[in-house]
Amino acid sequence: TSSATILAIESSCDETSAAVCRNGEIVSNIIATQAVHQQYGGVVPELASRAHMQNILPVVQQALQAAQCELQTVDAIAYTQAPGLIGALLVGSGFAKSLALALDKPLIAVHHMQAHVLANLIGERRPAFPFLCLTVSGGHTQIVRCDSPLQMTVIGETLDDAAGEAFDKSAKLIGLPYPGGPLIDKYAQQGKPIYKFAEPQIQGLDFSFSGLKTSILYFLQKAQKENPEFVQQELANICASVQHSIIQILIKKLMKAAKETGIKEICVAGGVSANSGLRKALQATGERFHWNTYMPAFEYCTDNAGMIAIAAYYKYLDGQFSSLDASPSARA
Ligand code: KG4
Ligand code: ZN
Repeated sequence: TSSATILAIESSCDETSAAVCRNGEIVSNIIATQAVHQQYGGVVPELASRAHMQNILPVVQQALQAAQCELQTVDAIAYTQAPGLIGALLVGSGFAKSLALALDKPLIAVHHMQAHVLANLIGERRPAFPFLCLTVSGGHTQIVRCDSPLQMTVIGETLDDAAGEAFDKSAKLIGLPYPGGPLIDKYAQQGKPIYKFAEPQIQGLDFSFSGLKTSILYFLQKAQKENPEFVQQELANICASVQHSIIQILIKKLMKAAKETGIKEICVAGGVSANSGLRKALQATGERFHWNTYMPAFEYCTDNAGMIAIAAYYKYLDGQFSSLDASPSARA
């Protein structure tokens, strides 16, 4: 039946999250961000696992409470099975399995990247099928063709760094703390994209960001040699230029994908889709090519259990349950 209540858990990286979904509507979505990694300039897997262990019980309790949901009334327990940090995934999957076993409820294993795409099915305004989704996160950059909630094909992806990595690594070169993506976004709003970097020449619908990173590194080294204060003085313009370059790479391939498939229902997903410049560029490009564009609300862009819950809801409707001995996997 469609009157399902699903409790979902996400723990693939450095966010511990739990959500409750009722009949395809997200009624609670609690996210605990792990601050411990900031001082190391990146996510430390072992520390992520430990933080998940500390956070998971209170986060699940809060999600149930916010949804005014009794644990016994839940129809299924969902969790992120892959991809992600294996130790982090094990905490969420272990917790979900224990609950499912104790409550005698079915278990639903969800693919993290599929869930990012389906975040576009949360809320009032939803894309029609088939749609294209540009999924841009810290670990992935893909263009996905989605023919139904559970039928997806990756038609383009990055050959090296992910878009979020390009943001974070560029931010590191500029001297900004981790994760640098949101900071580049912030400073870029006060600057203009006056500096140009090398553009990747990749055929088809695939992406590459490693050349951009190298180009930024050489640019900064040269400029700082001439003026040691360059980064301080030009921070806003540098950030605007880096952001503009990454967005151009993404939008160009999205335009190509839309043209080749003839699909005009266009979505974005993943942490980088929180970027204000990308959202504006998608809006503008969509108006130019008469696309219908869709962007998840901010809380469903970066890692969250709401998207796991919505993906699980469609799996529930389709009877796609998972066995207790399915193990999580670091890779897709
Ligand atoms: O989807 P996500 O939360 O986690 C993964 O599954 O990877 O994405 C995290 C990535 C990080 O690289 C972060 O810097 C980037 O999303 N990010 C942003 C913004 N907010 C998050 N990048 C640019 N602008 C933002 N506003
Ligand atoms: Zn993610």
